[in-house]
Amino acid sequence: MNIQSFAVIGAGQMGSGIAQVASQAGLEVQLLDLKEEWVQKGWNRIVKNLSRNVEKKKMTEAEKEDVLSRIHTTVHLEEAVGGADMVVEAVVENMQVKRDLFGKMDDLAPDRAILATNTSSLPITEIAAATKRPEQVIGMHFMNPVPVMKLVEVIRGLATADNVYQTVETLARKMDKTPVEVNDFPGFVSNRVLMPMINEAIYTVYEGVAEPEAVDQVVKLGMNHPMGPLTLADFIGLDTCLYIMETLYEGFGDSKYRPCPLLRKYVKAGWLGRKTGRGFYQYA
Ligand code: CAA
Ligand code: NAD
Repeated sequence: MNIQSFAVIGAGQMGSGIAQVASQAGLEVQLLDLKEEWVQKGWNRIVKNLSRNVEKKKMTEAEKEDVLSRIHTTVHLEEAVGGADMVVEAVVENMQVKRDLFGKMDDLAPDRAILATNTSSLPITEIAAATKRPEQVIGMHFMNPVPVMKLVEVIRGLATADNVYQTVETLARKMDKTPVEVNDFPGFVSNRVLMPMINEAIYTVYEGVAEPEAVDQVVKLGMNHPMGPLTLADFIGLDTCLYIMETLYEGFGDSKYRPCPLLRKYVKAGWLGRKTGRGFYQYA
């Protein structure tokens, strides 16, 4: 199937990045959030990214305008998905919210449409079961920041059809990404490996082993990671980190995945990292 019209649900840090790379791949994109101001925030992020590329002479002003001209914003779900060949959902990491949304999208999107989720950790099969087209539901997991990171994890649900998988793999390559197929288990591969490291880094702060700066320096300078785990946690969003740990903890029933109480405390305080201006660090 040749995907031409594309919808992205959720204009947060992931949704805006996905909309940008989809438009750069030549697709017509509808970008939706719940409120005008949140869609605008996502749009502004795209403009800022593209403008930076123009400043760095990686793109001309005309190319930037061309990319922007293919991205249409809306707060109406029917408008977003009503003509879509494919939808990628990038809303909050919560099963009930995603299932409700997939149920609605199933009613509003054309029969041909593929419904993909950018979930970080939740079972694709369970999300797919909220629709009458589970064979057309799939995980398409981009990494943050989307315009920069090369990986897309592609996750089949139990019922996902082969041609749907092939379409998504081809589309990921068209977006200049490298697709990697993984099976539908909590956290897939990326977050099963990454998130316990981040959670353990938070435990070292919680237990007074070291200050956040020291923990990050150890991993940055000692293991050559581009960001320390606490900087990365703030970058991902501490709410998202907590939801992923909860999915691993519930999904495997193994105490090694117990979310650190300090992570819970920060999320309860509304310290979600960069997006709220405060997490393990403070942002201007
Ligand atoms: N959005 C778009 N582009 C960005 C960006 C952003 N937020 N931040 C940086 N960039 C671009 C810069 O413009 C620059 O582009 P060029 O090479 O074209 O000039 C490039 O990235 C490098 O940026 P910088 O030189 O400013 O900074 P850096 O070298 O420190 O790199 C980084 C920034 C790429 C974010 C790097 O720090 C990094 O790789 N960090 C780790 C990111 C990571 O691990 N992501 C995965 C998170 S886990 C996940 O996504 C899955 C999940 O489900 C939670
Ligand atoms: P975010 O908080 O930046 O953005 C989420 C957006 O979704 C918000 O703008 C919110 O208003 C909107 N939203 C919430 N419910 C909605 C609904 N019912 N309909 C429409 N919009 C709705 O979050 P994010 O970091 O972009 O994460 C989004 C998804 O991507 C999550 O499932 C997350 O696990 C996954 N993900 C995150 C990262 C990361 O590093 N942050 C990486 C890969 C995948």
